[in-house]
Amino acid sequence: MIIAIDGPAASGKGTLGKRLSEHFGFAHLDTGLLYRAVARVMLDREIALAERDAAHEVALNLDVTHLDDPRLRGAQIGEAASVVSGYQPVRDALLAFQRQFAEQPPGAVLDGRDIGTVVCPHADVKLFITAAPEERARRRHLELLKRGEQTEYATILEDIRRRDERDMNRATAPLKPAADAIILDTTHLDAEAAFQAALDLVKAKVA
Ligand code: DC
Repeated sequence: MIIAIDGPAASGKGTLGKRLSEHFGFAHLDTGLLYRAVARVMLDREIALAERDAAHEVALNLDVTHLDDPRLRGAQIGEAASVVSGYQPVRDALLAFQRQFAEQPPGAVLDGRDIGTVVCPHADVKLFITAAPEERARRRHLELLKRGEQTEYATILEDIRRRDERDMNRATAPLKPAADAIILDTTHLDAEAAFQAALDLVKAKVA
């Protein structure tokens, strides 16, 4: 069984994906980490993000065994990931890995921007998680503070708006709900209520 979860930056889709995968005993892939890992290599090697061919090369040779590096979750890498993920060859290079991951028994949960539309159009359940930008900024701000990153709420809100704009308006695999996705707005839900709502939606769909 494949559960596809898409949504904008800091919508909580990663946390939901993790909890749903634990609940069902499925594997979980936060696909944003793949783009973040490409960005990390670019930044570490001091390659300009505008170098499309270099980004493609990095994606083709990506080592997917170190996706648990906490540095990947940082704001600078997130911003850089948003740039390199706009390059179609980068997306193509990461597609096979994601599709293989999705096919593993007994099931998999993948979260990202284009899981229901491009990576797993035949997913059994597609959720599109959203929340107001101000609420997403509030959550991301708290998360970064907990990680020890000193950031301003206003800066994060601005980053989120810029990323939404870029992710939704890019020519390749723009962020949008699949036609058959169920939309879950978590603006007024805490993490537990959001999980319960998502779980109910999944159960109703596969019943
Ligand atoms: O979800 P995230 O913040 O970790 O994602 C980082 C960037 O990667 C985001 O700006 C858009 C991109 N991304 C994507 O284009 N497709 C995905 N399936 C996942 C992430």
